[in-house]
Amino acid sequence: MERLTYKSFFERVRGETLIPPIPGSIIRARELINEENSSLKTIAALIESDPSIAAKVLKTSNSAYYGFRRKVDSIETALIILGLKTTYHILESVAIISVFSKRIDTRFFRKLTYFSVLVAITCSTVAQMAGINFHGTDYTGGLLHDIGHAAIRVVSPEHALVLEKEGDPLTMGCEKEQTLIGIDHCRAGRALGELWNLPEVTNECIERHHLPFINDNVITVPALVRFAVYIVEHLYRSKNTNGLAISVPPDHFASFVQMEKILGILNDRREEIREMVNLLAN
Ligand SMILES: [Fe+2]
Repeated sequence: MERLTYKSFFERVRGETLIPPIPGSIIRARELINEENSSLKTIAALIESDPSIAAKVLKTSNSAYYGFRRKVDSIETALIILGLKTTYHILESVAIISVFSKRIDTRFFRKLTYFSVLVAITCSTVAQMAGINFHGTDYTGGLLHDIGHAAIRVVSPEHALVLEKEGDPLTMGCEKEQTLIGIDHCRAGRALGELWNLPEVTNECIERHHLPFINDNVITVPALVRFAVYIVEHLYRSKNTNGLAISVPPDHFASFVQMEKILGILNDRREEIREMVNLLAN
């Protein structure tokens, strides 16, 4: 079987009929948001023209801004109180997840979505603790960081099968993926992000989320995603529920974070996480 490279995978994504181009409504929303004279009502009407996407945008907005003083109960409210750019980031991420939800077996996609929601919530929680508003890019970076797994499954099922035979693709690690098929999910996701013109910050979250987090002394969105991936993997994938076992270097941006607090928040938000997964994976 042909080994994959970034270039060959990129070409496969471009030619793959199972992955449609990024939905036209998203491109139109991108244009409207960048036009100076667009009215909120026009943008809201465009997003609401797809009720399934609109429902996902609302749920995701409330999850990304959990504890915010006002509940986001309509697209127009999201546009007013979260702002155009934040709402757009959320719209883009839920639309991308929707593209894949119908094309991948449910069991795998639910598991992928579950971990992605955990990472997204951890990102926004730490950003809130640090008092920084990344305008939704932290949450959406968390939601999309592992989208390369989905891309490999749709674009190249034969390579996905090779991975599956060797273990759980979601936990096997980049090195093993590269050894087995030539590309890992981080580079595969980057190829998709490039093709769909995702913001560079999102592409960086996708491509660099498994790099060591220990040198991240400054808080950025990709650094947040790396940190959140580490926490979620440690706590959930290794079945280590002892938050105290996670140590963060003293000069790391998150050294102020108490792990027990994050654990407690993820635990308190279990029901919301379950609802998010049900909505996004359907
Ligand atoms: Fe990953």
